Amino acid sequence: MANMIPEETINSVQKSADIVEVIGEYVQLKKQGRNYFGLCPFHGENTPSFSVSADKQIFHCFGCGAGGDVFSFLKQLEGYSFPQAVLVLAEKYHIDIPDDVSHAAVPTSEEGSDDLKMIEAHELSKKFYHHLLVNTKEGQEALDYLQDRGFSNEDIEKFEIGYSLNSWDFMTKFLEKRGFDPEMMAKAGLLVKKESGDGYFDRFRNRIIFPIHDHHGKTVAFSGRSLADNQQPKYMNSPESPLFHKSKLLYHFHQSRVHIRKQERAVLFEGFADVISAVKSGVNEAIATMGTSLTDEHARLIRRNTNEVIICYDSDRAGFEAAQKAAELLIKKDCKVRIAMMPDHLDPDDYIRKFGGDKFKTDVIGASVSFMAFKLQYFKKGKNLSDEGERISYIENVLKEISRLPTALEKEVYIKQLSDEFSLSYDSLQEQLSVYDHNTQQAQKKEAAPKPAVTQTKAKPWRIRPAYENAERTLLAHMVHDPEMIRKVLDRIGLDFNLDEHRAIAAYIYAMYEEGLDVSISKLMGKMNDQALNQILSEIVMGHNDREISEEELSDYTRKILNYRNKSVIREKEEKRQEAERKKDFLAAAALAQEIVKLTRSLK
Ligand code: UTP
Ligand code: MN
Repeated sequence: MANMIPEETINSVQKSADIVEVIGEYVQLKKQGRNYFGLCPFHGENTPSFSVSADKQIFHCFGCGAGGDVFSFLKQLEGYSFPQAVLVLAEKYHIDIPDDVSHAAVPTSEEGSDDLKMIEAHELSKKFYHHLLVNTKEGQEALDYLQDRGFSNEDIEKFEIGYSLNSWDFMTKFLEKRGFDPEMMAKAGLLVKKESGDGYFDRFRNRIIFPIHDHHGKTVAFSGRSLADNQQPKYMNSPESPLFHKSKLLYHFHQSRVHIRKQERAVLFEGFADVISAVKSGVNEAIATMGTSLTDEHARLIRRNTNEVIICYDSDRAGFEAAQKAAELLIKKDCKVRIAMMPDHLDPDDYIRKFGGDKFKTDVIGASVSFMAFKLQYFKKGKNLSDEGERISYIENVLKEISRLPTALEKEVYIKQLSDEFSLSYDSLQEQLSVYDHNTQQAQKKEAAPKPAVTQTKAKPWRIRPAYENAERTLLAHMVHDPEMIRKVLDRIGLDFNLDEHRAIAAYIYAMYEEGLDVSISKLMGKMNDQALNQILSEIVMGHNDREISEEELSDYTRKILNYRNKSVIREKEEKRQEAERKKDFLAAAALAQEIVKLTRSLK
């Protein structure tokens, strides 16, 4: 598959792509000495052990062992194939790809080329809907509606908003005329197949069209809002399709990713109208789910980019419950969660329209509270706390929440607060809490089913390596930047590396060297095309400096490697010899003994 893209193209992509820039789009990197550091996107962590080397063009995580070159990064993080990774980078760095290749190589399956067609249809429809909104008299009413809602022309351009005609077959014909297969268009969600089975009709009719982009910025779906609030459904969304997966996609994520990383937080909304208003107010790190509750996959995606989330949901009961669920999911993924609250009966978009974006930023986002404080305020809502019955039920609710807090210290803080607020004895609250504590533990035990797969790679315990292993790593590290060293190691050690992985890497290096190829780290990784080997190599290279090693050091390393090897061979032979003696095969035992003597002598 990989050779469908010409070697030269791969080479120029390799030369142009800058790993720091590419990874910087996903991970917030800070320069420290020669390398860059950040939080590893492959496993949850709070202290950065993920490093990127600009000189060597590789990355490596000292926490989980993930590593490789720019192609392996995209393969591991985005799930791309090698050709896909090459093409995505070629596009980014403006490197020409022969036409036949780009279509043949990415993606190669038939389904993949269907995906491309469907995206093309969405991009085309988006432009057309937009044209109808801004340039035609049919779009005037929709344009008026948007302007009433405070959308400027600039906003309409920026969010590429459009309008779909009040027609059953306009888009059906439009797409068909341009060669799109209607059945495929129905699968993509743009058309709907008639129940009778014969023919198709337009899904979006007389609606304001909001394009929905995937995380790479491709248009993959639409949401159509009715012009009248009472027309059901208010929003008609594209159905699930090969392009559009609601449980994975976050609205506006493509545009907000860079801001989320810069601001080191995300602001999560329920409705995408809220996101648009928030962005207009300068909250660029805004994202929303597409009419579904937050899923594990959404939470993981957020956590890869930041560990702080402000949840800004509607202030009604449904909003509270959704916020609580989302918060718990995010906390499980090791996110710090804060909740931004609005006055009753307003959603973020209403609030901004009523009070303006600045007030939203200071009084809503800026006044966000901890998850616990949010719950306490919520329980108070609509309760008359001077009524004894209501007061007790409030206190019980709060105690139940306190019992779910993870640390004794936090529990103490809130019990103290509760005892002050209602002049209750601290001890009696504590006693009551222990009852809930017990219940909570029982419930948590039940919940503690299989852990969700947060990480693809498990954190690896750090270990001390034996001397021969370090020697092998040092030699490999030098071989990849010094051809002279390849010659020397080939002569002295050949394939006698003790660790299988090291032997495999050496074998690749020798092969490239003997073919007269230039052995760079990225070329070598490309040749090996093996995630496990690439990870080991990146770790080795990242952990070594490029200082020359002296002849003396080289002999020392060689000795360590060969001695260990010989010793293990001796051990094996010794076992065989004893076995032979047991079987009374004295001839074989004597021969083995002789070999052992010879080997022992060779130990230096
Ligand atoms: P809301 O009903 O809160 O809409 O739905 P909104 O964001 O305030 O929109 P406006 O201000 O009335 O225009 C929140 C989200 O739920 C989904 C959409 O994703 C919306 O953004 N939704 C809502 C639907 O999918 N279908 C609907 O009919 C309504
Ligand atoms: Mn709204």
